[in-house]
Amino acid sequence: MSHDDLTQSPLAADGAFEVHLAQRGEKYRVPADQSILRVLSDAGVDVPFACEQGVCGTCLTQVLAGQPDHWDMFLTPEEQAANTQMMICCSRSQTAALVLDI
Ligand code: FES
Repeated sequence: MSHDDLTQSPLAADGAFEVHLAQRGEKYRVPADQSILRVLSDAGVDVPFACEQGVCGTCLTQVLAGQPDHWDMFLTPEEQAANTQMMICCSRSQTAALVLDI
């Protein structure tokens, strides 16, 4: 399945989804019990973060495709609704895959 299919498919029942890193050309699976940030930093991807609670704004990441499930308190409701950026420490996905500008 291509990016496009998964970024328009609903999230799997187990809550896991894929993140595709557009710049690096890499793909990771994010299980329900781990954040995008944790999965990426455990894999050695250098992503900036500080609070890990969705308040500081350090982990702001551009979203190229897919629909984030926003859990942060940093973005305004309008910014969240635009679905072009997300806080990867706490926000998740509503689609089976997200494409991030990393
Ligand atoms: Fe602070 Fe994500 S690390 S908002």
